[in-house]
Amino acid sequence: MSIASAARLLTETIHRQGAVTVLTGAGVSAESGIPTFRGSEGFWTIGSREYHPQEMATWTMFAKDPESVWAWYLYRMGLCQQAQPNAGHDALASMESILGDQFTLITQNVDNLHILAGNSLSRTFQIHGNLFQARCASGCRDDPFPLPSGLSPKKKGEMLSDRDRKSLTCPSCGGWIRPHVLWFDESYNQRHYHFNSALETAQRTQLLITAGTSGATTLPNHIVGIVNRNGGLMIDINVADNTFASLVTQSKLGVAVQKPSSVALAELARASKMALSNL
Ligand code: OAD
Repeated sequence: MSIASAARLLTETIHRQGAVTVLTGAGVSAESGIPTFRGSEGFWTIGSREYHPQEMATWTMFAKDPESVWAWYLYRMGLCQQAQPNAGHDALASMESILGDQFTLITQNVDNLHILAGNSLSRTFQIHGNLFQARCASGCRDDPFPLPSGLSPKKKGEMLSDRDRKSLTCPSCGGWIRPHVLWFDESYNQRHYHFNSALETAQRTQLLITAGTSGATTLPNHIVGIVNRNGGLMIDINVADNTFASLVTQSKLGVAVQKPSSVALAELARASKMALSNL
């Protein structure tokens, strides 16, 4: 379907003063050079074994081998530190500044690029956490805090230095700190991952834009399910077929746009601007 149809849905929603929600995934950051979660670059070797992200990003692995899990996160942090927001991130920051409280961003990305591009923390729910934050692994203090300065990004296969080990201790109890990210063997919650806020947002959403996500995790599926059951409109943006694009097409309640998110989101940001200037 054409981007023009998607822009029309957005324009109509803005004119009705309907709530617009954008749900992003790793595909939105792919054009900033960050590998998508399921790409082959995500693998990690410990000893003679290759580990998949779904084994590394777990409490079970952290409890067994915190040093290897941290080395992997410091490698990923290095990739994200080098990355800059792309035109897709910029478009979403511009949409928020145009639409204000009509706009909410829900992101699965932990790379901080939406915030760097200018989206506000108050209207952005980072439902899988943020790679640049940490919290006490044993929960002696529950609040996330910025990753300690002085940690050095790791190359593949490189382990922690003594300085890293020292930095990765909790300032309150002296035990390990952990990345402030949701692991595969953990559950969503409101306190750290805005679970209830994301579901409440879905309930009042009149147009949901999903961008660059394969739809593999549960909360995004709940969000899409709620919007769909409530008869809300949807625009899916992805370079490939995916479950959300199929749903949009089958339900006839929206448009699936097969384009890179940088291109499609920039078009939609332009449409938002025009919609408001024509009010
Ligand atoms: P995936 O890696 O599963 O999917 C990325 C999606 O982006 C795919 O559908 C690609 O086709 C699409 N894509 C790639 N480049 C694109 C581009 N330039 N423009 C538009 N689409 C593009 O990533 P997510 O769906 O984000 O969770 O994965 C969801 C979650 O699964 C992650 O947050 C992570 C992972 O397990 C946790 O760590 C809890």
